[in-house]
Amino acid sequence: MTASDLYWDPFRRDIWVDPYPVYKRLRAEAPVYYNEEHDFYAFARWADVDRGLPDVEHFSNARGNIYEFIKSGIEMPPGSVIFEDPPSHGIHRRLVSRLFSPGGIRSLESKIRDYVVRQLEPVQDGAGFDVIDILSDKVPMRVIGMLVGIPEEMQQSVRDRTVANLTTEEGGKLDAEASQIGTDIFEGYIDWRIANPSEDIMTKLLNAEFEDHDGTTRGLTREEILVYCAVISGAGNETTGQLMGWIGKVFGEEKNHRQYQEVVANPSLAGNAVEEVLRLEPVGQAVGRYVRKDVEFHGQTIPEGSTALFLVGSAGRDEAKFENPDVLDIHRDITAQRSFGYGLHYCLGANLARMEGRIVLEELVKRFPKGWDVDLSGARIASTTTVRGWEKLPIVLRK
Ligand code: HEM
Repeated sequence: MTASDLYWDPFRRDIWVDPYPVYKRLRAEAPVYYNEEHDFYAFARWADVDRGLPDVEHFSNARGNIYEFIKSGIEMPPGSVIFEDPPSHGIHRRLVSRLFSPGGIRSLESKIRDYVVRQLEPVQDGAGFDVIDILSDKVPMRVIGMLVGIPEEMQQSVRDRTVANLTTEEGGKLDAEASQIGTDIFEGYIDWRIANPSEDIMTKLLNAEFEDHDGTTRGLTREEILVYCAVISGAGNETTGQLMGWIGKVFGEEKNHRQYQEVVANPSLAGNAVEEVLRLEPVGQAVGRYVRKDVEFHGQTIPEGSTALFLVGSAGRDEAKFENPDVLDIHRDITAQRSFGYGLHYCLGANLARMEGRIVLEELVKRFPKGWDVDLSGARIASTTTVRGWEKLPIVLRK
């Protein structure tokens, strides 16, 4: 099935640092790749990712979408959306999607921009700064705080928890037990919000009524609201933070400076430039599924009970889909993007993440028209098996 020297897993740091040459070989030589050591199947071609992700008949999210969770068999609480199949998935997704209404998100834009400016102003006249410290570590959590009304003083501890949950020993696996959805951190907030109702979205959720799958109409329980908070901060924090890291990394590369200059000259290119960064360096490389029914790919049966990993990181580099896929092209016509998944579980926060990325790039080009270089001696890739990005990303501003 696979050439003997062709190997991929999400745990090997040497592969994680630059997975793209391996993906290229997987697409060409092993469209159905089976890893014996860790017992999973991986699909590297755009067409197979596109076929598998929306196929809820054969692939289930009920055990999560991360290898370690799927293998652990840990049960997820109801309302966890990412970890649910139809019909409960649809019911819970519809409720939480109220948080992401286009109007609601648009109204956050000026607040997000103010915060990004507040972060950049103190460093803009210096020699450089760490993108992770100044942007990734702060902006997405602040935005989630705005979205669900979490008071500022609670936000950093939530952010620290999400990073701690995702961090692994080098070369090790995620501890699914230890990093399952932690709701305790939001308890104080929800109790306070119940006692202090306001116009905010969390109060609306606390008072929302919906029809459950047994046909009864009811409100959300406190436990369900806690799960929503945990899911949103788990899904939207480190992912969006690492998008900011990749914006810093990609535009700090000499070969991309000319394109950065184009955004400086014409900031309306920022939106598509961010879309291209998402394609080139997707923060989530693999979206996992539990195989609930035998299914055939390329003449081979993937048996019920196995674990499938759809490599969105590879799909974005598939030469059958994109011309010159390894090259940044901020003018590329990106009509489809799989970095936010595809199908029923398509990322609820995609437009919010895109907006955050665009605001960051717009504010960077405004302040640093000459661009920057990454100080690779101080940069360090984060040790995780899930969200691929930077623990430290110092940049030196060009003067
Ligand atoms: C660059 C940033 C982001 C990336 C790359 C990303 C990626 C993804 C992907 C690939 C999925 C699909 C999972 C699957 O199919 O199993 C997903 C789902 C989800 N994302 Fe995001 N995400 C990002 C930002 C956000 C933000 C900012 C939020 C919220 C504040 C968010 C909330 C969610 C939720 C709630 C789901 C579950 C949707 C469902 O299962 O129906 N994400 N995300």
